[in-house]
Amino acid sequence: MTVAQQLWIPGMHAAAAERRAGYAALRPMLASLLAGEHDLIANAANTAALLFASVPELNWLGFYFLKGGELVVGPFQGKPACVRIALGKGVCGTAAATRATMVVPDVHAFAGHIACDAASRSEIVIPLLRGDALLGVLDIDSPLPARFDEVDRAGLEELARVFLCSLEAN
Ligand code: SME
Repeated sequence: MTVAQQLWIPGMHAAAAERRAGYAALRPMLASLLAGEHDLIANAANTAALLFASVPELNWLGFYFLKGGELVVGPFQGKPACVRIALGKGVCGTAAATRATMVVPDVHAFAGHIACDAASRSEIVIPLLRGDALLGVLDIDSPLPARFDEVDRAGLEELARVFLCSLEAN
């Protein structure tokens, strides 16, 4: 394993092209960090640590994995979080149930939002699919309203794919 050099992606007010380039540069760093290792928890932990250190303006970033029909918290960075979320509940449970990325510009306006950290103002949740099977979700919170847009969605979905590819030998 090579420990990737950390990278600071430009913040939400930077030009879209710069933010896109930041995500593009982070992809090979994540791939290099995970290279040769296929363990789910190890790779989720390193993915959470690299992304939280590299993407600015976040207060929580981590994984929920589908276990026994509900989401259970996995490796994360940030304050202690809710452990179990039912499918269809909150932003995470909605992304898991619909298998679609959820971008929520104002969590206070999202009916059923589960507030783990009162500082969170906006959120993006990316479902993690292995073939037809739902593995879980990648959940990212920001203390800034409307922190995530289409650039973040595309960039983070690509990074989630790098994480999923790292598990392939399992
Ligand atoms: N806000 C999430 C719950 C998880 S915490 O943000 C870590 C939700 O509504 O599903």
